[in-house]
Amino acid sequence: MVDNKVKEGENILIYASKGKNWLVKATHGAKVHTHLGYIELSEVIGKEYGEVFETNLGAKMAVLRPYLIDYVMKSSRTTQIVYPKDVGLIILETGLSPGATVIEAGTGSGALTTALANFVRPDGHVFTYEMRPEFIEVAEKNLKRSSLRDFVTIKNKDASMGFDEKDVDIAVIDVGDPWRLASPAYNALKGGGAIAAILPTVNQAEKLAIELHKLGFINVHTVELLLRNIEVREGMSRPSTRMIAHTAYLMFARKTILKS
Ligand SMILES: C[S@@+](CC[C@H](N)C(=O)[O-])C[C@H]1O[C@@H](n2cnc3c(N)ncnc32)[C@H](O)[C@@H]1O
Repeated sequence: MVDNKVKEGENILIYASKGKNWLVKATHGAKVHTHLGYIELSEVIGKEYGEVFETNLGAKMAVLRPYLIDYVMKSSRTTQIVYPKDVGLIILETGLSPGATVIEAGTGSGALTTALANFVRPDGHVFTYEMRPEFIEVAEKNLKRSSLRDFVTIKNKDASMGFDEKDVDIAVIDVGDPWRLASPAYNALKGGGAIAAILPTVNQAEKLAIELHKLGFINVHTVELLLRNIEVREGMSRPSTRMIAHTAYLMFARKTILKS
């Protein structure tokens, strides 16, 4: 049976409430300062996951194991990141699964890379392309924190010049001019392989769809996911008044090959 106790060096989530939680490394001698007082991490090491404890000011907190969603949302950010609601559909629409080979452009903060790496392991791999070295540093840091670095190769290259990999299962595109990557992605994908693109604007979607059809992709379809939080309280439950109204359109397609 797996020991369910916090060990020194593990990443832990200190949970105060849904909107307030901290992802930290359990380190003897370290403190986490919060608006509700501080926590001595030495006191958390050895506690059982799920256990409730108090800050120096008596505020109650719980210690949890971080999940993938925590790593994605708490990525250090140099760019806009792909949100969990969009990541979920990308996984299903592309058939992302253990053993898959994935190419990605661009890496940005590595939030989506983190999710892709999580699902290809242990035998698959993500090859991610990023033009700006300063973004790569941050993405690397994020991937190391989630212990997924080994499943990713980061290339400081312009993906519009072509991907080095061939016969890949999945291509994921999150750049400003995605239509320029349609042909490089087509050339790298195996027959039947899936492409997914994250597109903040309608203009990007139109231009990319035209390219995908020209190249012979099929099942080209585009969606937008709207996520609305519901505040559930006895006798007064209702949707939250505020929401993130737009993240990106998602376009998906599959590669076909015409044999002459
Ligand atoms: C919106 S960010 C990607 C965010 C990322 N999906 C995440 O979740 O953190 C877009 C990134 O693509 C990079 N980029 C743009 N064009 C590129 C290209 N042709 N090849 C490689 N990277 C590119 C940019 O430098 C930028 O970092």
